[in-house]
Amino acid sequence: MGQKVVVGLMSGTSLDGIDAALVNISEGDNQKFQVKLIQFSTLPFSESMRERILALCDPNSARLEDISLSNMLLGELFAETAKRVVTEAGLKMKDVDLISSHGQTIFHQPESKRIEGYNVTSTLQIGDIAVIAERTGVMTVGDFRTRDMAAGGQGAPLVPYADDLLFRADPNGRILANIGGIANITVLPPAEINEQVLAFDTGPGNMLIDAFTTWATQGKQTYDKNGELAAKGKVDEKWLKELLDHDYYRLPAPKSTGRELFGLDYANILWNAKKELEPEDKIATITELTARTIAEECKRFVDSYNIKEIFISGGGWYNHTLRKGLLDNLPPSIKLGSTDELGIPADAKEAIVFALLGYQCINKRPNNLPSATGAHSPVIMGKIALA
Ligand SMILES: Nc1ncnc2c1ncn2[C@@H]1O[C@H](COP(=O)(O)OP(=O)(O)O)[C@@H](O)[C@H]1O
Ligand SMILES: [Mg+2]
Repeated sequence: MGQKVVVGLMSGTSLDGIDAALVNISEGDNQKFQVKLIQFSTLPFSESMRERILALCDPNSARLEDISLSNMLLGELFAETAKRVVTEAGLKMKDVDLISSHGQTIFHQPESKRIEGYNVTSTLQIGDIAVIAERTGVMTVGDFRTRDMAAGGQGAPLVPYADDLLFRADPNGRILANIGGIANITVLPPAEINEQVLAFDTGPGNMLIDAFTTWATQGKQTYDKNGELAAKGKVDEKWLKELLDHDYYRLPAPKSTGRELFGLDYANILWNAKKELEPEDKIATITELTARTIAEECKRFVDSYNIKEIFISGGGWYNHTLRKGLLDNLPPSIKLGSTDELGIPADAKEAIVFALLGYQCINKRPNNLPSATGAHSPVIMGKIALA
């Protein structure tokens, strides 16, 4: 079958910027995909843009005019990122078959509310695809999550669909962990075993580390580069034990979370709770919290899913202290690596996945994973703005 050149666009909860992955998707029989990254590029958000989006994520400060305006403004930024990655690859927009954009989530409420006799769940990703299609001249797919919700799902997580399609192996199971603002894992049973793929958020990813680093450096750094600050500090075991006593970690999977539980409010309370600790010690402790909660969830599946390998993606992979924390908390029999080893660079993975989800959409194929989202059936997610 044919080959398509697709740009996947993604901006997650970290609000670090918009990622663009230019990929070549080729397909063999039975949806055997080869997804090859041609070029990856990030358009970092300015400080004012980050604050603008943060204000939209807070129902108390979000104004309707700002939401409407930012939807179009982000469309411009997503379009610019798409053009940038194509130019950097030495290609032209006419060489691109499709753009697929996740958008920027500003609201996500998977628990249903009973309103006017209907059970309503909702989610809102902004960055209008009409603007992207108009600026680039390329057909653009976006707004994936609403369709899964309409089918009774949580609209998240969406990445496990691609994990299942691309990374199942034999005879061992694998875990794919993405450490973005929030951390999530996909537990893949061995390929031959007819067991469901499990996927859920484990809790904080880089979100608390980023907030602590910003405060420790008076805004000079927005993240703990390579985990250097954490490496200088000492983990406060007593405090760590208290932090691990959070209700979320006890909830059974599948479960999902976001800024509501582990955002700036929570970070602020923790930062101010331990005045006696050095900033580096606080960062070290919160980094260990992140590593420990991811590792603990992974460990539950090592025996039952015959897990031998864990592959990390997302910006958290570049935090060496976090990586070391994961290794220290996992059984020595487990091999820890990044998705680079599977041909998918860790920082580009989510953008690459959205390229694939958009490709499936225009081919009219279901692209959600009901066992991960809770949808009652497979559905075709995504809306299309034609070129
Ligand atoms: N070199 C690095 N050292 C430490 N942390 C990093 C590094 N590069 C990226 N990160 C972390 O990764 C985060 C971005 O990860 P990303 O996968 O883009 O998350 P999201 O999907 O939430 O946007 C940054 O906020 C930062 O915390
Ligand atoms: Mg990001």
